[in-house]
Amino acid sequence: MGLVTGTCLAETGNHVVCVDIDSAKVEKMKNGIVPIYEPHLDVYFERNIKQGRLKFTTSLEEGIKDATILFLALPTPPGEDGSADLSYILGVANNLGDLISDYKIIIDKSTVPVGTADLVKQTIAAKTNVEFDVVSNPEFLREGFAVEDFMKPDRIVIGAESEKAKKILGELYSPYVRSGNPIIFMDVRSAELTKYAANSFLATKISFMNEISILCEKLGADVDMVRYGIGTDDRIGKRFLFPGIGYGGSCFPKDVKALIKSSQDVGYDFKILNSVTEVNDSQKKILVEKILSHYNGNITGKKFAIWGLSFKPDTDDIREAPALEIIDALLDKGAVIHTYDPEAMENVQRIYSDKIKFSTDQYEALNDADALLIATEWSVFRTPDFNEIEKRLKSKTIFDGRNILNLDKMEELGYTYYSIGRKTIV
Ligand SMILES: NC(=O)c1ccc[n+]([C@@H]2O[C@H](COP(=O)([O-])OP(=O)(O)OC[C@H]3O[C@@H](n4cnc5c(N)ncnc54)[C@H](O)[C@@H]3O)[C@@H](O)[C@H]2O)c1
Repeated sequence: MGLVTGTCLAETGNHVVCVDIDSAKVEKMKNGIVPIYEPHLDVYFERNIKQGRLKFTTSLEEGIKDATILFLALPTPPGEDGSADLSYILGVANNLGDLISDYKIIIDKSTVPVGTADLVKQTIAAKTNVEFDVVSNPEFLREGFAVEDFMKPDRIVIGAESEKAKKILGELYSPYVRSGNPIIFMDVRSAELTKYAANSFLATKISFMNEISILCEKLGADVDMVRYGIGTDDRIGKRFLFPGIGYGGSCFPKDVKALIKSSQDVGYDFKILNSVTEVNDSQKKILVEKILSHYNGNITGKKFAIWGLSFKPDTDDIREAPALEIIDALLDKGAVIHTYDPEAMENVQRIYSDKIKFSTDQYEALNDADALLIATEWSVFRTPDFNEIEKRLKSKTIFDGRNILNLDKMEELGYTYYSIGRKTIV
């Protein structure tokens, strides 16, 4: 998030220094290498480095020397009890207290619980008398569309008390809202909660549709039809209605858990979100259940090809990716796994090394496999060469966790085809 933010801010003419404690990452970036896969980031990254507006350092002191606006894009991973771990944010706030020598706007851009800006303020104020403002400016970008979302946001939320900070940030963001999308100024606490409310609402939509898909299977309905049927209602909307094998990534699982914990801390049991998490946990197991049932519980020695490893398409991010849970469950039952992903294989290889195989193209992964599993809806899997699939698979069996293949076509081609919330073709 930090790199996308920094690069996109440089693109509109600002001078940006990105600070990271990971020296290997900083070294890569200094050598012109983008350390993550994110569509369109490379073009802006190269251009702004070349034009001297985008720099990298491991030194916080050097990074903030000439800066007025400091964005904290630090990790906020879940602690043991689900609460957001604020040690990164407060650690840097503590350092800033020692380092700042002129007016700074310090922006919480990370997803942080209500009250964090106050904590950041107290931490810095305990160490300095220099004037500063702390602002909450949650980021709503989607991985895979991060650059587009940053450059053309639906809205920008700014929680600030200080008129001076509001004015400076209004100017900073004005190039991004020229088409009329709003910069919404509000109080700090509401801004902090807005981000959690947005992610938790989206996660709720996903879990709701996943439960509808289970019902569809049990009642003989087709979830795609139900989805069209309800999505055309403006009050519901077409997006985020796709059932699948559960949400993953670095945001939804942790943000839902953090909001549950924040609620508990103030004596409120957020009942819906407890269920959203529970449904998601079981949905991540659903494809393996279908596989086990198909093979009468015995998959020892069976070979599965898995297409897609990242938690969603167009990213190499594998944090909490459903594919990894599937791999663990299948390995546990004695299966052999060959995988292919357009971007995420290097990250997965770091975890599994030679426990699973990685193929250089999607069809090679199918050689002698008993079945194909689709775990991520990369576009390249949407219209595959079925002749190649048939030639390579031992049996024409597909478990599609993302409903990307057409039921009629699978029937016509004679596949055994399992998907989510739709009839099974046998
Ligand atoms: N990934 C997204 O799509 C997204 C979207 C919106 C909001 N967010 C939020 O943004 C925050 C960051 O998420 P991310 O996915 O970019 O995390 P990330 O782990 O990919 O990046 C965080 C970076 O911070 C660096 N870091 C850690 N400690 C540091 C320190 N003391 N000084 C300098 N750098 C340090 C790490 O080395 C890492 O490169 C989280 O709160 C997340 O919820 C993420």
